[in-house]
Amino acid sequence: MAKKRVLSGIRATGRLHLGNYLGAVKGMLALQDDPDYETFYMIADLHTTTTPFEPAELKKGRREVLLDYLAAGLDTEKSAIFAQSDLADLHAQLAFYFSTVVSVARLRHLPTFKDKVKQYPGQVTMALLNYPVLMAADILIYKASKVPVGIDQEPHLEVAREIARKMNSKYNLNFPEPTRFATKGEHIPSLTGKGKMSKSVQGSYLNLTDDLPAIKAKLAKVPTDAGVGDLKYENVPKGAAEKLKYFGVYESKQTKESRGVAVLMLLVEIFQGKERKEEYDKQYEGEGISYQKLKGELAKAIFEEFKPIQKKRKEFEEKPEYVEKVLEKGAKAARKVAEITVREVRDKMGI
Ligand code: TRP
Repeated sequence: MAKKRVLSGIRATGRLHLGNYLGAVKGMLALQDDPDYETFYMIADLHTTTTPFEPAELKKGRREVLLDYLAAGLDTEKSAIFAQSDLADLHAQLAFYFSTVVSVARLRHLPTFKDKVKQYPGQVTMALLNYPVLMAADILIYKASKVPVGIDQEPHLEVAREIARKMNSKYNLNFPEPTRFATKGEHIPSLTGKGKMSKSVQGSYLNLTDDLPAIKAKLAKVPTDAGVGDLKYENVPKGAAEKLKYFGVYESKQTKESRGVAVLMLLVEIFQGKERKEEYDKQYEGEGISYQKLKGELAKAIFEEFKPIQKKRKEFEEKPEYVEKVLEKGAKAARKVAEITVREVRDKMGI
């Protein structure tokens, strides 16, 4: 049986943060090591241009993401690792063909689009509106059926599935309907206690390259409550079908402090295990929690996981020629597959 394909990407906005790592990279690693899958992992540098950016920063951002990918364990022997811009001729071309089956209204009403409009009211471009269509092209150009990304990307995957269905029925194609490959850290809230962990919000994130003092300093700022009483913080329910909606409700119902505690507890569960978190829950309802101690232990646990990644990153930083070659090799492998799909679509569309 032919292997199933996987595609994922992260925008080239610089070093990866904990949300990228837990929501996307961990899933990428799991599927890379699964022999049933053929994996394509890209740096989504074209997507980076859909919001305000500096050309010099874009170049740097591409390199930072690549280094973090390699340091975290993405492996050129197992995955095609490439830059989206190296295949711009194919990805952007397919996105244009796809845009013929998507209405403007559908894209304007996406929550992800509305968020960006709020964030950059003066810079609502066609590229921004078209963001999900380009993302659909990224995925479907490899006929990928699994996409390891955070839960915030679900609305975009829905658009990709709609496009696949429309293209299939209109032009007799055979695109799969891609689904999300979820990880334990599919939603990592901001350390500020509001919204998700994001590169564009100062103080919201931990970088994979943060050292122990940096992690400690950032955790120290997470807002906390009195640490005792009836459980006031609320954790995100597992397996809830309406998770995405729930995050909205969860945000509005909670205070900054209780949201801060919820982030800490989630990180405790991920990095120190479920039992440790349950002990804290008991303390919360009993003698109370010392957040200072909790934060110190948590910082150490997080750093333990970052340490080997940072060591590997240093090794790659010292081999710039090798790192450049990675993208060349990846682009070649990706192009082989992407070309076939674009040719097929053009054929069926009569272009
Ligand atoms: N939109 C994704 C994000 O912000 C990045 C991305 C671009 C992507 N193209 C993709 C993710 C294709 C998965 C598949 O995280």
